[in-house]
Amino acid sequence: MIGKKLRDAMNEQIKHELESYYIYLSMVAYFHSQNLDGMAHWMRVQSHEEQMHAMKFFDHIIECGGTVELLDLKQHKTKFSSPLEAFKDAYDHELFITSKIHKLMAIARKEGEFSSEPLLGWFVKEQIEEESNTSRIKQQLEMLGNSKDGLIMLDRELATRAWPAGSCLDPLSYNAPGA
Ligand SMILES: [Fe+2]
Ligand SMILES: [Fe+2]
Repeated sequence: MIGKKLRDAMNEQIKHELESYYIYLSMVAYFHSQNLDGMAHWMRVQSHEEQMHAMKFFDHIIECGGTVELLDLKQHKTKFSSPLEAFKDAYDHELFITSKIHKLMAIARKEGEFSSEPLLGWFVKEQIEEESNTSRIKQQLEMLGNSKDGLIMLDRELATRAWPAGSCLDPLSYNAPGA
């Protein structure tokens, strides 16, 4: 049985993960508006990951006998002045998420919530990847400055990011006959 302190913090975390989904989806729309469809694709895959993160906490709370409470989502910014600004925001957001995950781990350890440590350990590791991905792209955008050629090349590269299996955000899935 999950204790109230950790359960409340995990319900908060479901909200943070869903807000991440929302923020990145907003960036998908921005990148499409700039004809940077590769970057839009990369962010679509990232949005999908955020939904999965929310569901990992959702299922964990239920499995541990707790009650899931879906909290109000905040309206985040919907306009970006450049691809660099969007990826800078994404990196800053991942730093914020890492601080939240570390706080969850600290609560779990303080409260002796050993059953939640493996899941939180997975998230600690996942955040290393999330920070490194967003930081690398942000730095590449900084490097290429005003180069349109460079921007197009990076856009092409980001178009190759693979979907998680059976993603509902993959247009192939929601445009399939019978969907
Ligand atoms: Fe996440
Ligand atoms: Fe990830």
